[in-house]
Amino acid sequence: MTKHYYITTPIYYVNDKPHIGHAYTTLAADVLARFMRLDGYQVKFLTGTDEHGQKVEKAAFDAGQDPKDFVDKVSMNFRTLFEKMNFSNDDFIRTTEERHKKSAIALWERLVEKDAIYLGSYTGWYAIRDEAFYTESELVNGKAPTGADVEWVEEPSYFFRLSQFQEKLLDFYDKYPHCIAPAAKRNEVISFVKSGLRDLSVSRTSFKWGIPVPKDPAHIMYVWIEALSNYITAVGFPDLEAKDFKNFWPADVHMVGKDILRFHAVYWPAFLMAADITPPKRVFAHGWWTNEGEKISKSLGNVIDPLDLVAQYGLDQTRYFLMREVPFGGDGDFSRSAMVQRINSNLANDLGNLVQRTASMVYKNCDGKIPSPGTLHKEDLNLIHSAENLLPLLRDLMKEQALHKALDIIWQVISNANRYVDNEAPWALKKTDVARMETVLYTLMEVIRHLGLYLQPFMPGSAVKILDLLSVDPGERTFSHIGKQYRLRGKTSILEPTPIFPRYVEG
Ligand code: MSP
Repeated sequence: MTKHYYITTPIYYVNDKPHIGHAYTTLAADVLARFMRLDGYQVKFLTGTDEHGQKVEKAAFDAGQDPKDFVDKVSMNFRTLFEKMNFSNDDFIRTTEERHKKSAIALWERLVEKDAIYLGSYTGWYAIRDEAFYTESELVNGKAPTGADVEWVEEPSYFFRLSQFQEKLLDFYDKYPHCIAPAAKRNEVISFVKSGLRDLSVSRTSFKWGIPVPKDPAHIMYVWIEALSNYITAVGFPDLEAKDFKNFWPADVHMVGKDILRFHAVYWPAFLMAADITPPKRVFAHGWWTNEGEKISKSLGNVIDPLDLVAQYGLDQTRYFLMREVPFGGDGDFSRSAMVQRINSNLANDLGNLVQRTASMVYKNCDGKIPSPGTLHKEDLNLIHSAENLLPLLRDLMKEQALHKALDIIWQVISNANRYVDNEAPWALKKTDVARMETVLYTLMEVIRHLGLYLQPFMPGSAVKILDLLSVDPGERTFSHIGKQYRLRGKTSILEPTPIFPRYVEG
């Protein structure tokens, strides 16, 4: 039976050009999606853009452009970024698409039908930057707790009966302990819900750029109720019988940043429960990046453009750094020195040298062909087994989205292999025992084959280079090709090696 896996990213506001935060969330989802595909799952990886609401309307106005022209352009910047970052999303959704309007309206109608929405009036604060409502008591020095400016709003509004979902949500969190991660974030969500839920305003009348409320077009749907529904739109909602809906819903993981966890782990499951739709299996909230110790903000002028990183350090180097530097789920700091350190030490030295010196020895000393091994010694088998046995460990870590730990254990094998090269000294064996040299080089090549396979989700381009170098059949590059049965065959010609991870030299 086919196993399915549905992973999503937030859909990004198109008020500005993409930055590191957008690339980060989508990269993490890309790594997971690629891992699961290699592990035999049928994957749907969804990303896209959130194009309605006051924030986007204001950005279009400030740019002197018609909102539709504006969002078309900015959305395209995201698409281009994602292609350049080698993201493997299966779909890119835009909330201005017809399929999405139809779905958001259908969700609204279902909520009305279930008596989960009523008309009232909203009096309170609203932060356009956050697209969020705040009470007086939540304000800090006259601003939203996030630091965003707030404005006073008094207008008729539809409300969602969130207050009726407190117990249901708590039961849900209790019954599915893995539905929110990391654990500390889960606890925050639970205490928020325990502190009491107020009904949520879900429509606005003071702007136009959005989807009108069915039968009451003076109201525009609150951007979050509309945006969240993108996750079901993309699998065919409102057609509950759609093949994708049946295969992929409920989503396996909604990957989000910590700032938008509440929307995903409280409001979204409540909307879905009210509409009689199963909530997502898991919401994972990652942390935020700072830049050289400073909060990233437009006003400080220190926003990181991911394409600048790619241009300066290389694509896979950037992907690797973002996934390795910070325990996934925690906050982290970007610094040039940390980036250069990772590139030179982990990539150029540890991995790059291992591949380069092994392949060069094979190329020069074994007539450019993978040698046939003699009897494998205990240390050869230990090393090969350490590589072969990683798969179940990686699976467990990826299930928890512990992406940095997955890289840690891959790097342990790289260290083992480097220690093995030093101990076995194949360059010396060349003079004393050619057969043993061939066995040692074979052992190393077989370990490198595994490293190439495991690294595909993280550094797809470089992993392909490693596997190509070893002439691994393109049809034998999934996780079902891990292990003994697909070991390299002696006498296979390899390519002439060229360094895959050059050192970064400050220019
Ligand atoms: N449109 C909403 C999401 C709707 S989902 C139904 C939104 N968009 S956003 O453009 O603001 O995207 C934010 C994403 O980028 C979030 O996951 C957020 O956490 C992430 N980041 C923004 N700045 C960030 C950092 N400095 N560091 C890491 N991620 C950060 O919210």
